Amino acid sequence: MKKTIKDYDLNGKKVIIRCDLNVPIDNGIILDDTRIRSSIKTIRYAINNGASVILLSHLGRVKNVDDKKNNSLYPVSIALSNILKKEVLFSPETRGKELSKMVSELKAGDILLIENTRFEDIIGNKESKCDKRLAKYWASLGDIYINDAYGTCHRNHASVTGIPLYIPSGIGFLVEREINKINGVLDSNTHPFVTILGGKKIDDKIKLIQSLVNISDKLIIGGAMSFTFLKVLGYNIGKSTISEDNFSFCKRLLNEYGEKIILPVDFVCEDGTKEIDEFDDNDIGYDIGPKTVRLFDRVLKDARRVILNGPMGMFEDKKYSDGTRKVFNILGKYKIKTVIGGGDSASAVNNLGFEDMFYHVSTGGGATMKYLEDRKLIGIEVIEDAKK
Ligand code: 3PG
Repeated sequence: MKKTIKDYDLNGKKVIIRCDLNVPIDNGIILDDTRIRSSIKTIRYAINNGASVILLSHLGRVKNVDDKKNNSLYPVSIALSNILKKEVLFSPETRGKELSKMVSELKAGDILLIENTRFEDIIGNKESKCDKRLAKYWASLGDIYINDAYGTCHRNHASVTGIPLYIPSGIGFLVEREINKINGVLDSNTHPFVTILGGKKIDDKIKLIQSLVNISDKLIIGGAMSFTFLKVLGYNIGKSTISEDNFSFCKRLLNEYGEKIILPVDFVCEDGTKEIDEFDDNDIGYDIGPKTVRLFDRVLKDARRVILNGPMGMFEDKKYSDGTRKVFNILGKYKIKTVIGGGDSASAVNNLGFEDMFYHVSTGGGATMKYLEDRKLIGIEVIEDAKK
């Protein structure tokens, strides 16, 4: 068990909260504020308990000076201020005299958001390579470090794993909730337990598949990643995406766990629905078809727990969103205790209007995948243990 924000007396303290405020922004407009809203509970708790708050977060990936223009956290400071209904100060510097002055002037209840931690990547990848001096400098700004950046807990970065080496540390409410919810599904003894995997790339999910196939009663594979399995089974998959590097992995999995693995039997292609044995050389499957939805329905009918990672098709395009929507509907219809994890799956839930339907929709993409792989996240491991 790790220390949490509740284990500390925050009164009069400067509390550094690492959040994951990495939200989609287009021309200064925030397209989805879920991660901002999910960070509020911890921030509010800190100020209500007499702390001043210093917020750190990354936004996007910053490799050169040009990337700075589109990746400023300034719009996030405005959004935070609107949600909290109070001023949120913003420091355009990620380190330096001005920032240190702003920090020294903070009073109880004040909130200061520091500019994108990844601006420190432009010279020497200091954030991403967990530069010691940078971590030490950020740590020097506060008295206590709280990690509430669940979506970033798999990154060995200065603002995640560096700072807690120098000052007392704990996790925030979001990190605690995410872990409790995911463990709530993984550790429950109810069966059947079904894993549903989708999305494009099988390459990123090999370890995930390996660890979930062992503990699942059934493994449903949808989305483009199913084509590598179907190809191995000898089907003509046309021009659909496959990963030849993973043929032997898929072969071994089908040999070892064949009776657990459920694959699609039809797909929506550009010119309509086709069964998998009707594909010609030019076909591309963009979504699972209606027969597959019925097949998945039969498998899910008795399921008690589900982990879903990855959409069933190209849900961003209305023409190909049916498969993903219908699988969400099935999970709702049978009231299955479901955790949705992975960036694309969470945006599918939001875009298709299923926000409040599931036991848990994770705010993490890569982090949730990593946690499902080995139940460990480096950003949580470095946090102080709670006294037994
Ligand atoms: C995410 O969006 O998954 C997190 O914010 C981590 O971002 P990253 O993959 O750029 O490290």
